[in-house]
Formats: sequence, C-alpha cells, structure tokens
Amino acid sequence: MPPTDGPFGPVMPTAELHIHIEGTLEPEMLVRLAARNGVTLPTTDIGELRSRYRFADLQSFLDLYYANLPVLRTEADFYDLGRAYLERAAVAGVRRAEIFFDPQTHMANGVPLAAVFGGLSAALADGAARDGVSADLILCFLRDLGAGAAEETLAAALPFREHFIGVGLDSAEVGHPPSLFRDVFGRAAAERLRLVAHAGEEGGPEYVWEALDELAAERIDHGIRAMEDPRLVGRLRDEQIPLTVCPLSNVALRVVDALEAHMLPAMLEAGLRVCLNSDDPAYFGGYIDDNLEAVRRELGLSDAQMATLARNSFDACFAPDDAKERWKAEVDDYAARNAPAAG
Ligand code: HPA
Ligand code: ZN
Repeated sequence: MPPTDGPFGPVMPTAELHIHIEGTLEPEMLVRLAARNGVTLPTTDIGELRSRYRFADLQSFLDLYYANLPVLRTEADFYDLGRAYLERAAVAGVRRAEIFFDPQTHMANGVPLAAVFGGLSAALADGAARDGVSADLILCFLRDLGAGAAEETLAAALPFREHFIGVGLDSAEVGHPPSLFRDVFGRAAAERLRLVAHAGEEGGPEYVWEALDELAAERIDHGIRAMEDPRLVGRLRDEQIPLTVCPLSNVALRVVDALEAHMLPAMLEAGLRVCLNSDDPAYFGGYIDDNLEAVRRELGLSDAQMATLARNSFDACFAPDDAKERWKAEVDDYAARNAPAAG
C-alpha cells in the first residue's frame, strides 16, 4: 500500500498525469548508468551536473535532456528509471501515474523498442504490486521530427499495443503546430488509444485550439497560455477539458517570470479542470509533492483549492471509473481529517 503519511504529516492523494519518465533521470542515476554502459559524460561530478540544470527556455532544456539519454541502453536501465520514479511518486501521495516516454529518442540511440517497453512495463507492474501505484504509459511523438516520423513510430509501436494506453505530442512546440499530426492522431484513435497533447506551453492559444479541434485531444498538457484567449477559456471550462499544469517547470523554463506570477489561481478561479504535475522533476527542482507545496506556499492556495487540484487529477485520469471514485473518496477523507477543528 502507498504511504499515507509523509515526513511532515499526511500526504494528499493525487494522480500525476504529466510526467516524462526521461525527465526523472537524476544526476546520480545518470552517472551510475553511464558507468554501467561505458558511456562517457562531460563530468561525473554530481554537483557540477546539477549546476548545468539552468535553462533559458524550452529548447535549452531539451538540448540537455536529449544529450543525457544515451546512457539508457538496456531493458534493465528502463526498469531502474521507472522503478525509481514510482518509489518516489508513492512517497509523494501518487495513486495513479500516466507516464510519458519518448521512443524516438531511444530508437535513434540504437535501443530496441522491446527493451524500452520491457523495462518500463516491468517497473509499472512492480510499482503496482509493491507501492500500490496504478500506472500506464503514454507514447509521445517528438513534434520537431515531423508527422512522417510520428507515423513510423506508431507503426513500430503497435506490436506493443498492450503496453501503452495513449499517445501524446511533446518536444519543441513553436513552429510545430498540432495540426501537422492530425492523421497520425486519427490512426491512434482508430487503435483505441487515448489522445493528449502538449499545447500552450511556449506556443500560443491557437495551438490549444488546434489540439482540440484537429487532434481531438482529451487533455491538454500545460495549456497555460490558453488564459490569453477568453473564448478558449470558456470552451475549456464548458467542456471541462483537463489541463495538466506544471508550475516548477514553467518557472524553470521561464514560461512564467516567477511562481508568484503563475496563472494557476486565475485558472482555478475560471473554473478550469486544472491538476498539478512535475513534468521533468530531475531537471526542474522537484516532484509532484514539491510542486503542490510550492503553490500552496507561494500562491497561498487554500486547503479547499488543494483538494480541488487532487480531485481534478483523478477526474482527468484514464483509469476505470470505480478506481477514480475510490481515489476521490480518499481525497475527501484527507480533506476532512485536515480541516481545522470547528469552534
Ligand atoms: N515540454 C515539451 N517537451 C518535453 C518536455 C516539456 O516540458 N519535457 C520533455 N519533453
Ligand atoms: Zn511535458
């Protein structure tokens, strides 16, 4: 069973729906896998590696993120990566994780897809059995490699269809609009895969419109720039389309100036179905519990707002309805136990 108490008291149950497994590669594991696989790194000094985790924008982050990934070579490497994330997620209160992975990067690095799926699927099975975390995989297409490459990736992954529940769209956003991926998303839908897309992180509201209208995306990853378009905010609210917001990521990639300036309170105020996530926690300064704590502290969110974020995360997830109801009841219990005593 997952822990119900963290080092500082009870931990709120939550789902994490925007987490790139490659973005959980901590410097310690980077060094260990490099040694295991005979890969040379620019430095093996953990402090020095961590000091490079400062970014000007999304692209400067992606450059480092991709540069680190050749240390992942074997099924055991993918297992270790997935296992470490799920252990950490359980401590953070995560009951349900829907985990992105970037197969195109690994295939380009010469890793067979069978090793990627084999290692990650084994880690997910152990995470369920040992930590009580329900988890599934979502295959992301790298939008900067284009639609043809996405089509080829989907075709290569379909023999492993039982190992993933959906497809997403990530990597460099601006200049690679969702509409380019309409056909491949249509093909994924025909395979009964769930559909999500990064949009409105660095790209404007028009990317969110396209993800909804051209890709039939069921959830929008980030989506914060939707707040620039009142008509889009109305659509997202009326249809209760989930937005997987990642505050520490937004600050680290300078999408927002500072946490205190984040649009999360305005998104909640507008009635949007927002949930909190860590995106790439090894790079952006914290896991989902760190994100939750940071917004509570810096944005002054109330206990009720924190519980709303958690309920939204379960409403937004792709697990069966009975599990979603069970987890939301756990949130209600948590909120009741932590409510200030009356009188
Ligand atoms: N945005 C886009 N692509 C990504 C990210 C992100 O934050 N992390 C990993 N791939
Ligand atoms: Zn992301």
